[in-house]
Amino acid sequence: MRTDYCGELRADDIGREVSVCGWVDRRREHGEHLAFIDLRDRTGVVQCVVDERHDLRSEYVARVTGTVRARPDGTANPTLATGEVEVGDCQVEVLSAAEPPPFPLHSRTEVDENVRLRYRYVDLRGERLQRNLSLRAAVNSAIRRSMEAQRFTEVETPMLVASTPEGARDFVVPSRLHPGRFYALPQSPQIFKQLCMVGGIDRYYQIARCLRDEDLRADRQFEFMQLDAEASFAGQHDVMAFITEAVFAAVEATTGNRPADPITMSWTDAMERYGTDKPDVRFGLELVELTGLFEGTEAKVFQVECVKGINCKGGGGSLGRNAVDELTRKCRQWGAKGLAWFRVGGNGALDGALTKFMSDAEQAALGPAMGAEPGDLLLLVADRRQTVRDVLGLLRLELGRPPVTEGGLHFVWVTDFPLFESIDDQGRPISAHHPFTMPHPEDVGLLDGAGEELLAVRSQAYDMVLNGWELGSGSVRIHRPDIQRAVFRALGIGDDEAEERFGFLLDAFRYGAPPHAGFAFGIDRLVAILAGEENIREVIAFPKTQSGADPLSNSPTPISDRHLDELGLHVLPPPAAG
Ligand code: AMO
Repeated sequence: MRTDYCGELRADDIGREVSVCGWVDRRREHGEHLAFIDLRDRTGVVQCVVDERHDLRSEYVARVTGTVRARPDGTANPTLATGEVEVGDCQVEVLSAAEPPPFPLHSRTEVDENVRLRYRYVDLRGERLQRNLSLRAAVNSAIRRSMEAQRFTEVETPMLVASTPEGARDFVVPSRLHPGRFYALPQSPQIFKQLCMVGGIDRYYQIARCLRDEDLRADRQFEFMQLDAEASFAGQHDVMAFITEAVFAAVEATTGNRPADPITMSWTDAMERYGTDKPDVRFGLELVELTGLFEGTEAKVFQVECVKGINCKGGGGSLGRNAVDELTRKCRQWGAKGLAWFRVGGNGALDGALTKFMSDAEQAALGPAMGAEPGDLLLLVADRRQTVRDVLGLLRLELGRPPVTEGGLHFVWVTDFPLFESIDDQGRPISAHHPFTMPHPEDVGLLDGAGEELLAVRSQAYDMVLNGWELGSGSVRIHRPDIQRAVFRALGIGDDEAEERFGFLLDAFRYGAPPHAGFAFGIDRLVAILAGEENIREVIAFPKTQSGADPLSNSPTPISDRHLDELGLHVLPPPAAG
């Protein structure tokens, strides 16, 4: 139907007869029985001069045939790629009339998100989503090329599976043929990709859809996409190199530049210096260890397991009493007993409510330990080490974090995660990653320990972090049944339960399992950051709202009684409010 895309006509095309198709972006009356129509397709808009009698309103779909000509002197629009030309002597064919759009395409930010998602097909026509979705396609394509060049084979894994071990809630699908039984939708292809390794695929990858029933946030949807990969006869450093290559290929394909090499940091370092396993290294404000400085202190608040602080540069002047009180309130909310603060005076002396409990030596040492200069504000938290890290990690973000899209791309590999992240109420450890993660070779012996001792076991798990967002996770996997049993035992998963939940994987390992390792990263998150978006919804064609609904198709919807009967299901009335 067309010879050209609207947004691609240039001065070189002057004199050509062209046909363009698209939506009426804007209409302005011209006088002399003529009207200007901006016709829009995915490449942009071009101005067409048409007879005013044509009924061409906003968002009508039309085909325009005419001659490309230079715009009259003084009317070129340098801000538009097609701004030097217009299409004249037009014949117009209306292909589809349109009701007035439910919201104006050009002032989308003022439009309620529910309305935008209800009419997502209109929203998609806008420049921002067009750009984001083509960037997303370019990322996927670069990832595929990179993985193929690295000799990975794309394998598709099933969507109707048994429960997977990622730790979120499963979405489940009732089975009609097996009433009372359910499939789970995969939280990731984890087990299947490991089976692919046993199956000799050697290097597997998939741009995989994953589903997790968890609370939605800016960087979380129920459905999301991973670059999922697994490699045999490969260890942590091989996998980190494969993934870095794929991510960098995607960045290069979409920005034209290769980012700076990732830095590598151990989990302990990240926790001690940034108070989080997702260190945002775009800014300073690192946590300073002060526990030693307060050893033997008289000050009660500092007689605790750990004291750390942040030097808020220049904050002594810029943050008034109210601002500091507000920070203190937040720290309490995050779990600290309080926030100790000191303003650094002109002579380097400290001013703060706690100085009177501190020795002269402590006062003299604190400033230098924190690199303090006159005008700085020193913020300290004293508590259990875990609390101090968590609270100061959050305080650091509060004080200095730029929007995720600003300040370039700062990749960090965080390595040597602990095998277990915490101990539950029943004294059982909780996997930091998933139960197939290989312990650090030096720490295998510690698996026989109990309770808190187990928290010292390191694993061969690693995360990739970009500007403070967790982009992905992976690990070397256990391929030896004896180590797997020891980990299950430590997790309190008995032989029967292990057999029931993961028996097929354990079976597979008895038939010749190669050592293997893998990784998965969130494509939505990478694309959002590359697109300059702070919410992954902006890079997903048909996302869910914050409450998990889809205003377009109205899902989730009730199903008929007949359908329920067929599935052997009975729906209870919702619990009474309150
Ligand atoms: P993990 O559970 O850490 O690892 O997930 C890997 C990455 O997937 C992305 N992600 C999400 N993105 C959007 N919305 C969500 N709800 C969501 N949940 C996770 C994140 C995350 O870093 N099978 C293991 C990987 C492995 O060991 O190979 C796994 O899925 O970017």
